Amino acid sequence: MDLTTDYLGLKLKNPLVVSSSPLTESVDNILRLEEAGAAAVILPSIFEEQLALEGNSIDSDISRGTESFAESLSYLPVYEDYRQGQDAYLSLLHHARLRAGIPVIASLNGATAGGWVRFAKEIEQAGADGLELNTYSLVTDPAMTSGQAEQALVDLVRSVRQNTKLPIAVKLSSNYTSLPNLARQLDGAGADALVLFNRFYQPDFDLEQLDVVPRLALSRSEELLLRLHWVAILYGNVKANLAVTGGVHSGQDVLKSIMAGAQVAMMVSELLARGIDQLSNIRAQLMRWMEEHEYQSIDQMRGSLSRRSVPDPSPFERGNYIKTLSSYTLRTPVA
Ligand SMILES: Cc1cc2nc3c(=O)[nH]c(=O)nc-3n(C[C@H](O)[C@H](O)[C@H](O)COP(=O)(O)O)c2cc1C
Repeated sequence: MDLTTDYLGLKLKNPLVVSSSPLTESVDNILRLEEAGAAAVILPSIFEEQLALEGNSIDSDISRGTESFAESLSYLPVYEDYRQGQDAYLSLLHHARLRAGIPVIASLNGATAGGWVRFAKEIEQAGADGLELNTYSLVTDPAMTSGQAEQALVDLVRSVRQNTKLPIAVKLSSNYTSLPNLARQLDGAGADALVLFNRFYQPDFDLEQLDVVPRLALSRSEELLLRLHWVAILYGNVKANLAVTGGVHSGQDVLKSIMAGAQVAMMVSELLARGIDQLSNIRAQLMRWMEEHEYQSIDQMRGSLSRRSVPDPSPFERGNYIKTLSSYTLRTPVA
């Protein structure tokens, strides 16, 4: 059975990729992930704010005094605890690359084009197999239009593209007005893959402290549906590879991701909750299903449930909304 898949110009032994998280912040863990069956890993992100703060050869973006930087400065000490800076990042990358037999993809996390993107070149020199660009950004300024927000993202991708020859994957948020059009613009800006989607972390309200507090809950399989929907719509409409992140917890979830049109399915929450060895169970589930249903390869399944391939594409469109709402029947009479 052929589990191989192409992603970012790399030949991967299977479609299971471990996404950016603390799971990949040590070489030992990366080796354990490889042993459990991961086909590639993505390192934790190094952040725009962190790179700009550390300055050195990189322009000091802080002097721009933008609103986003003023906000960032208040939480940067957390970053300094969580990540130990550029040198440690490059060292992790270098050692992971030396010792692991699977591709190691670095992750840059930022929202605005600036001197910090030159770090992409250093990532390339340290031996990364690819670069994931996490573009988590939130528009809070009522004066900014959706067109301007998209343009900022496209400019950012273009400026990273100018700084490295590495294949670039762009990790997107789901909140865009016309994702298919944005995806095409990102194609044009040099994205080699689109990773769908960043999880949108909302803070909770602490009613006793009357404060707003961060809250990170691990994902559940239900969250996969949003990714499947958009991968199925984008498949065949963009040059970039497609990857799923968010809600992949089982072999079935991996199969669905591939059938929607993804090259790879990424995982974090499942492995944080159940341990790294869960990867080998997921791989076994994937193989068992393929065997039972007489599939010989991953490539054979790709896109078979995409919007282009299914006889009735209406489940991906507005018709689905009407059908779904009217399919609900009340179980007990409502007073
Ligand atoms: C504790 C934790 C740390 C994370 N750190 C990063 C990060 O540094 N950069 C990034 O792009 N994504 C980060 N993520 C998001 C994951 O890469 C992934 O996209 C997300 O968790 C959805 O996948 P899942 O449903 O398999 O967890 C993090 C997730 C968790 C749970």
